[in-house]
Amino acid sequence: MNSPGHDPHRTIKMFFLSSAVWFLVGTTEGFIDATHMAAPDLLGSIGWLSFGRMRPIHTNTVIFGFVGTALLGISHYIAPVLLKTPLYSSAMARISLWVWNLSVLVGTITLALGFSQGREYAEWIWPVDIGILTTLFLSTLNLLGTIYQRNERILYVSIWYSLGGAIFIFFIYLFGNAVWNPLSGAIEGGIADGVLAWFYGHGLVGFFLTPLAVGAAYYIIPIVARSPLYSHTLSIVGFWSILMFYNQIGAHHILQAPTPTWLKVIAVTGSVAMLVPVLTALTNLFLTMRGRIGTIHADIGGKFVFAGLVWYFFVCIQGPFQSLPIVQRVTHFNNWVIAHSHIAVLGFSGFIALGGIYFILPRIMGRDLHNTKLADLQYWMVLIGLTGFFVVLTGLGLIQGNSWLNGETEYRLLPQIHMYFVIRAGLGLFIVSGAAIGLYNIFFSIREPRIREAAK
Ligand code: HEM
Ligand code: HEM
Repeated sequence: MNSPGHDPHRTIKMFFLSSAVWFLVGTTEGFIDATHMAAPDLLGSIGWLSFGRMRPIHTNTVIFGFVGTALLGISHYIAPVLLKTPLYSSAMARISLWVWNLSVLVGTITLALGFSQGREYAEWIWPVDIGILTTLFLSTLNLLGTIYQRNERILYVSIWYSLGGAIFIFFIYLFGNAVWNPLSGAIEGGIADGVLAWFYGHGLVGFFLTPLAVGAAYYIIPIVARSPLYSHTLSIVGFWSILMFYNQIGAHHILQAPTPTWLKVIAVTGSVAMLVPVLTALTNLFLTMRGRIGTIHADIGGKFVFAGLVWYFFVCIQGPFQSLPIVQRVTHFNNWVIAHSHIAVLGFSGFIALGGIYFILPRIMGRDLHNTKLADLQYWMVLIGLTGFFVVLTGLGLIQGNSWLNGETEYRLLPQIHMYFVIRAGLGLFIVSGAAIGLYNIFFSIREPRIREAAK
């Protein structure tokens, strides 16, 4: 299936490079969003720069463009290595790469022009949905083909996660975007559509970002720790329990809406039960790393993945807690949730995505990164920015939530909380700079051998 003489890693490198580009674009958009909140009049009334357009552009770019692209690249790399066989079709992988990137680009431009389906994380219009679905379909097919022709009988847990993630997200994306109803992108009005929208919204993080990131961590951690996985049985228990609980908890996003009570009960109990798969995976990985934290941190990829797992722990302790209706009375509808989103998507899946890039690149290039110190600098810039985000946004959320609970008039609070928005925008600059450093480093890590070859 692969043409002779073809560099099997070229597509993987392009997945990583394009992820780095989207990281910089996405964080710049996030910075513009943050500027709107700190100085609402600064950017005037330019349509494509308005908050209503820039916010979905930011969220979709970071989720699909930055984290999604990197995780897809990582799973395309991991599968052939673990299955001891070449990728089933490198042509299919190339098409996946370009269709995916084209979709993110068209989605970004059309949102900037004001075309939106108006449902969170499903804002992209239907031609873009077709592109995303095409990639997800091809990636699943490619993975299945690689599994079929494998030379390794045992399917390591990372393969389970990659395959499970690929299959589930295809259907969740299809239904969540109501692709058969291209004009509205919704099934119908009212609460039924809200339920579907959040089945999709949480499915996107639970069946796309989570399995691919956890699968990558399962692959990388034993290698950088130079220690076999603590327990294969535990890893499979974690996989099946994720499938069991994750798909029915989306309604925890709409506990404050007229959602049927039975659904809310299922969502809340399922959210608390999520502690089972999360703690199973984390215990397994932390026992694998026991006594080897220094060895892991000696590899910059391992260092990023380790931080991603620590964030995963905090995200998934916070998640069940904020699913409780009594807690959501304070934490819903304010910046507490924005803090959670950032430690989840950037802290957990984003850090593991970056770790995967920095772990895999030197291995496929056969030499060190262009500059490991720069990767370390990026690590600290993003970590400082994100930790700051978490502290500032959580504090801000608690102030907003309590004032609401006490019946205060919200707009009177604005002068008091203005400084929090200014600090958040400032912290954002750390993350934007980290993304710029990462793009520079990844670009030259990929480019250098060609320059060297040309000089020979
Ligand atoms: C144990 C696992 C988790 C639970 C129980 C959980 C729970 C929740 C709850 C209850 C909310 C809604 C809060 C509100 O609106 O008041 C929420 C929001 C969110 N969660 Fe999680 N979470 C978990 C893990 C994750 C992970 C792993 C990710 C990402 C990889 C993630 C990403 C998000 C995002 C992006 C939102 C914001 C959605 C929005 O309103 O736009 N969560 N989570
Ligand atoms: C320069 C860095 C960043 C800044 C300044 C920033 C800022 C923002 C702002 C202002 C919002 C809108 C919040 C609101 O509606 O109240 C937002 C939403 C969001 N951002 Fe970022 N962001 C940055 C980086 C990132 C990164 C790297 C990721 C993920 C990898 C990310 C993921 C998200 C998500 C998932 C939401 C939706 C949150 C929700 O509705 O709960 N952001 N961001």
